[in-house]
Amino acid sequence: MRIVIAGGHGKIARHLARQLAARGDMVLGIIRNPDHVPDLQQDGAHPVVLDLERAGVDELATIVTGADAVVFAAGAGPGSGAPRKDTVDRGAAVLLADAAQAAGVRRYLMVSSMGAATGGAGIEDEVFAAYQDAKKAADEDLMARDLDWTIIRPGRLTDGPGTGLVRLAAETGRGDVPREDVASVLRGALDDDSTVGLVAELVSGDDPVDVALSAVSRG
Ligand SMILES: NC(=O)c1ccc[n+]([C@@H]2O[C@H](COP(=O)([O-])OP(=O)(O)OC[C@H]3O[C@@H](n4cnc5c(N)ncnc54)[C@H](OP(=O)(O)O)[C@@H]3O)[C@@H](O)[C@H]2O)c1
Repeated sequence: MRIVIAGGHGKIARHLARQLAARGDMVLGIIRNPDHVPDLQQDGAHPVVLDLERAGVDELATIVTGADAVVFAAGAGPGSGAPRKDTVDRGAAVLLADAAQAAGVRRYLMVSSMGAATGGAGIEDEVFAAYQDAKKAADEDLMARDLDWTIIRPGRLTDGPGTGLVRLAAETGRGDVPREDVASVLRGALDDDSTVGLVAELVSGDDPVDVALSAVSRG
């Protein structure tokens, strides 16, 4: 497969790139910082330098042309303010969807967030509320499109080693999940067409990834 990952130097993105490259997939990682090129090359991914807050649809469509799937794994990250939650967590996700449609790429995997269903309503922290509003808007934009999308909403991300055991459900309740396991779920979703149209929360659990994906997507 040929997969394009937006936010290619992110922690989930790098786990995913390594997993996909190891099985022979061709991975293009979109990064904005040229200093990150060697890291992606070490992962077995092909870096493409493009700032998703400045790029136009045509430019990004050229990059995703010929891909079997795109993955949105970018994020403004901790330390960023409300404006960048909108330009990255919403705006860049929407741009990727526009580019995928322009390029005729149907498959789109979204790294969303637990809480995106309700957005920022009732959240006191202004920046976190803006983040959840941005994730909600990005998810809703994607769901309204004629694309083969899957939306994964992880709980709190950790850097611990993946266990390969997860819980996926419409509502899981709060919980943590290692980034490596999020990547494994994305990889599994790429292989399982029954996950098209799936919106699921993700935390650590008791089910192997393929079993959890199969169970949640077949209802
Ligand atoms: N933290 C949590 O507990 C949690 C829970 C649920 C979901 N999530 C979501 O999961 C996402 C992925 O998590 P993660 O930990 O893997 O993220 P991460 O390590 O923070 O990676 C995000 C990546 O997005 C890139 N990026 C930001 N702005 C960009 C731009 N304009 N153009 C291109 N790339 C850009 C960053 O690049 P730079 O290094 O250049 O900034 C970074 O490499 C998060 O961003 C968040 O939305 C987080």
